[in-house]
Amino acid sequence: MNRQEIDALVKQMNVETATGAVNDRVQQIVVRLLGDLFQAIEDLDISQSELWKGLEYFTDAGQANELGLLAAGLGLEHYLDLRADEADAKAGITGGTPRTIEGPLYVAGAPESVGFARMDDGSESDKIDTLFIEGIVRDTDGNIIPNAKVEIWHANSLGNYSFFDKSQSDFNLRRSILTDADGNYVAQTTMPVGYGCPPEGTTQAVLNLLGRHGNRPSHVHYFISAPGYRKLTTQFNIEGDKYLWDDFAFATRDGLVATAVDVTDEAEIARRGVDKPFKQITFNVELVKDQTQAPSTEVERRRASA
Ligand SMILES: [Fe+2]
Repeated sequence: MNRQEIDALVKQMNVETATGAVNDRVQQIVVRLLGDLFQAIEDLDISQSELWKGLEYFTDAGQANELGLLAAGLGLEHYLDLRADEADAKAGITGGTPRTIEGPLYVAGAPESVGFARMDDGSESDKIDTLFIEGIVRDTDGNIIPNAKVEIWHANSLGNYSFFDKSQSDFNLRRSILTDADGNYVAQTTMPVGYGCPPEGTTQAVLNLLGRHGNRPSHVHYFISAPGYRKLTTQFNIEGDKYLWDDFAFATRDGLVATAVDVTDEAEIARRGVDKPFKQITFNVELVKDQTQAPSTEVERRRASA
């Protein structure tokens, strides 16, 4: 079939058969995606067995709750970031800390505090470095933003996230910190470790067939929001990790690479109230003011909450 015949067939089956109220947007998207799928079946001569394998794959990936991971791994989520950058540029919006993917592991409801939070529950203190993350939230003119909500989440020493990893305490390595009167936030936590897709999982299965690895560098996720500013979804990836620029989820971007500095000075150690040398990362954030012509940066998606 040629495209004209395909489009006519799709329309005949999914548009002309309507007898109830139609959601125009859903109809438009379904018709387009089906047409493109039928066309791909034609062009690539996709067999019936291959098509069923594909549908079974989505069933398995959905049942394993890995579709969010798949979207990151195949670059769909990064592509949406690039599109959002393009839309911002078209709207004349420049500056601000770059966005990057949310990933599938945010959990709403983390404990909230002002200025400072200890994020780890202490269970890994003896096997991994303590990390202090600190920064100032400002606007693109350099004005500090007090009371900005800085939501931070990251993995433990095994590359696992609390909530999804039931062996961790509730909200371990997840906190919401409101910036203090000077726009500062400080988090005391443990060094995150990069992780890979579950090796026997559905995402890794397709990556294997593409000859790709499923590893991420060590990183820390952020949502930063403040009234009158565009919400920022981002993360920093940590210098020195072998996957820094070879991230299976394509989240590492210029401006989002952080260096963990070793702090061994006794006075600094005492000032921080810890008992051993630690690592320190500065991650300052620049938010862009809300503008009426600005595309929204709020993304609706199903997120875990605890
Ligand atoms: Fe992550």
